[in-house]
Formats: sequence, C-alpha cells, structure tokens
Amino acid sequence: KILILDFGSQYTQLIARRIRELGVYCEIWAYDNPISAIRDFAPKGLILSGGPSTVTEEHTPRPPKEVFDLGIPVLGICYGLQCMAAMLGGEVSTSDKREFGHAEVDVCEANSLIVETRQSVWMSHGDKVTELPEGFTVIGKSNNAPLCAIADESRRFYGVQFHPEVTHSEFGEQILSRFVHQICDCGRDWSASNIIQDCIESARAQVGDDHVILGLSGGVDSSVVAALLHEAIGDQLTCIFVDNGLLRKNEGDQVMETFAENMGVRVIRVDAEDRFLSELAGVNDPEAKRKIIGRVFVEIFEEESKKIDNAKWLAQGTIYPDVIESAASKTGKAQVIKSHHNVGGLPEGMELKLLEPLRELFKDEVRRIGLELGLPAKMIHRHPFPGPGLGVRILGEVKKEYADVLREADAIFMAELYATGWYEKTSQAFAVFLPVKSVGVVGDNRSYDYVIALRAVQTVDFMTATWAPIPYDILANISSRIINEVRGISRVTYDISGKPPATIEWE
Ligand code: XMP
Repeated sequence: KILILDFGSQYTQLIARRIRELGVYCEIWAYDNPISAIRDFAPKGLILSGGPSTVTEEHTPRPPKEVFDLGIPVLGICYGLQCMAAMLGGEVSTSDKREFGHAEVDVCEANSLIVETRQSVWMSHGDKVTELPEGFTVIGKSNNAPLCAIADESRRFYGVQFHPEVTHSEFGEQILSRFVHQICDCGRDWSASNIIQDCIESARAQVGDDHVILGLSGGVDSSVVAALLHEAIGDQLTCIFVDNGLLRKNEGDQVMETFAENMGVRVIRVDAEDRFLSELAGVNDPEAKRKIIGRVFVEIFEEESKKIDNAKWLAQGTIYPDVIESAASKTGKAQVIKSHHNVGGLPEGMELKLLEPLRELFKDEVRRIGLELGLPAKMIHRHPFPGPGLGVRILGEVKKEYADVLREADAIFMAELYATGWYEKTSQAFAVFLPVKSVGVVGDNRSYDYVIALRAVQTVDFMTATWAPIPYDILANISSRIINEVRGISRVTYDISGKPPATIEWE
C-alpha cells in the first residue's frame, strides 16, 4: 500500500483514485501526522501531494523529516517536490514566470520514473526548484522549469513539478504506474473481488453475532452496502426501506424485487406515504419541507428498528470522499475518523454502533463492487436522487395528485433518455412539477392544466453544471409524449439555466 500525504491540493483525491485504478491500495492522510503513525501504517511508498503553499515562506506545511529515513521510495508532486527539495538541502524560489496548463517536458537522463523522452504535461505552479539537493540529478526539463523532474535513484526519491495524476499529462498514468509497481514493488491486488473479500472479512470481524440494521434507499451506496452485508452476514442484516410516497415511478417495487425477491435480503418495507403527505400538507417553504421529510424519516426508522431484537449496529453507505471531506473540514486531518450521517441522521437515543463498510472506497470502486456483487447495472449507474425525493421537485406544497402526475412525466423523460443514449450523457436529469396552470388546446377544447419543466445537466462534481444540449427532435418527442400521455399537463418546458447561477434542483 501507498500513503499519500496531503498538502491541500485540489488534485489529491485524484492521485488516490489513479493509484487505486492501478490496483494498489492507498490512503490520504494530512501531512502533519506523526512519524509513528506513518511507521505503523507501513506503506511501501510515499507520495507528497501538491498544495497551495509556498516553501519559500517560514512555517509552511512540512511532513515529519523522518519520512526521508524510512527507507521507502518517495514521490513529490508539485508542492511535494518543492517541499522535499527544500527539506533535503536544495533551494526553491518563487519565479517571475508562472506556469499553468500545458508544457513540454524533455527527459534528459535515463531513470526509472519517466521513460518517454518528450511528453506533454499539466503544470500549475509559481515556485520552482532552483538548486538540487545533494544526491539528486535532473531527469526532466521544461521551458520554465529547468529542474522540472529530479531523482535520487540510490535513495529512490523522485520529484516532478507537473501533475501526473491529471489526464492532460500524456504519460501520467505510466509515471504513477512505474512509481507504485516498479519502484515501490506494489502488486496489482486491489481488485473488485479482493475489495469485496476484504470488506466482508472486516464486517464479519466487527459485528460477530450481532444484528445490523440498514436504511436502504435504493441509491447506489446503500444498495451496495446491502448486497455486501448480505454476503457477509446474511440473516444478521435487516434493511428498512421507507417508502415516503415521494419516490419515482415503480421505485419501491424495484427495490423490493432486487433485494428481497432476487437476492433474499431481509427488507422491511414501510409504506409511509400518508404520513409524509399529511405532515407536508400546507407547507410551501423548501427548507421546511426538507426538515419535515428528514424528521419523519428518522421517526419511522427509529420506530421500525425498535422492533428488531438485538440490533447493535447501524450500517451506512459512507464513502471515502465523505470521510476525507468531513475529516478535513472538522480537523484538517484526513485520517481522523468522523462519522457521517447520510441517511437522514442517526436516530437520537438509539445506542447503535456505526458500521461503514464502504468508508475506504471511492464512488467508482463502489460501483465496481456493486456490479461484481450482482446488482443490476441500471441501478449502479443511476443518476443521484436527493433524499427528499419528489418533495423538492414539486414546487411549493406537496400533494399526492401532483406527485402522481410528476412520476408519470418523469418516467417518460427517463425512458426517452435511455432509448436515445442521453441518460449516460447526462449527470442528472429529472422532471419538475410547476403548480401553475397554463392554457392549451386539446382537440376542439380549451385545456387549462399544469406545467412540467425538464431539467438535464452535465457536471463532474455537481458544484458547477451546464444544461445538457439534448437535440431538439428528442425534446420534441418527450414533450409530445408527456402532454399526450399524462393527464393534467398542458405544457412542457426545458430548463436552460447553468449552475451557477441556478442550482440543479429547483428548490
Ligand atoms: P443543487 O440543487 O444544490 O444540487 O445544485 C446539487 C446536488 O445535490 C442534490 N441535492 C440533494 N441531495 N438532499 C440530498 O440528498 C437534498 O436535500 C438535496 N438537495 C439537492 C441534487 O440532486 C444534486 O445532485
């Protein structure tokens, strides 16, 4: 395994994902972890990430100096290179020429890290190494950084000014592969089936003979937890699936079919549509609706779980980015364990221990093991769906009549996106119910019915998004199907707002 010490680069998670894709387990820790913890972790290699700081100032982030005495290979990337150079006796200065974006690197000396003689790389730096530390040689140069890649082959220390983890760096993957596979001698043993095996063994060891409950939502993460724990502990798992009446068409039945019927998972389905809708009656404000939906979920979950004897554990679908984010935001240290509640919150007063079998995995790994565990591809590659469901896609007050209409319109939209290959080309797509009436003509009659807005966006991180350029003929077909097939709708619009300034959801 590899340890990545994080100096705050926006690319640190990407380094970890690349290393895992290369079949090698790695973790991200804050740079200032004590050397004893690093020794105990016993990595076969260390990567120092980039970061926003400059080593030319006093008191800048440094790893413990003993990391260079562990006898393991070290790769410094960008700030990590500068930091290593400065700590080992070289010199780093702030250059007048900054370098952002593409650059060409020429390899000027045979070495075990970079083989291709000339390559296009991705740069993002102001500082650069101006004097080599003792024992190092220059292995690559760029126009603006004559000491762009350096190495001390005898100690197996390497540094690159560019970012091999981004896909814009032409041979980035090969460089990372040479570092982890050849220089650090890590095998490719982080595969879907090994991950599953690991997760199963540790879940079994953790829970022993106890009983575990899980809030199953039908989303990717909780579904994979259910499948995994079913493999691991079988009947010691009970899933609680709360149907709040705000799910998409057939969603509840599909969850029951996949888990209860096909896989034999013990699932309690709670039909709570009436309870949610009566609590939501008369409420217009989006945040108030979210709070009610969250609270009622917790109440129901608590009531149901009290009926399960001997339940000692609450399983959750927390994944690695949640762990890194909540730890980083609360303590600045990535490895500190901080529980993250993503199923509406842990019911208070329930003395349950948290079981989070996916907490070391990235989303793409969760998807891979989900497929390997036999979950349907359609479920694994589904767009995200917000916890409050259709509750925030019906603007203003939520009513059953509106939810029923919206479910039908949304199902047509999804079916057409699947049929035209646009589901995969969009990151999230859905219909929104607008409780305003608009005039239309149906045959010889005047109609006066509600409006549906269609929303489809493309995004990588859901922080910014662009509206999807779905072709007009596809939109035309979706619109005419919705107006013809869904009673109560006389007009369909397509949302062409980006985020920012709009958000993805309408509420
Ligand atoms: P916005 O609308 O903020 O959405 O651009 C960004 C992403 O977050 C999802 N979202 C939610 N997810 N509970 C959730 O679990 C919520 O209350 C909620 N609101 C928005 C949204 O679907 C999109 O993927």
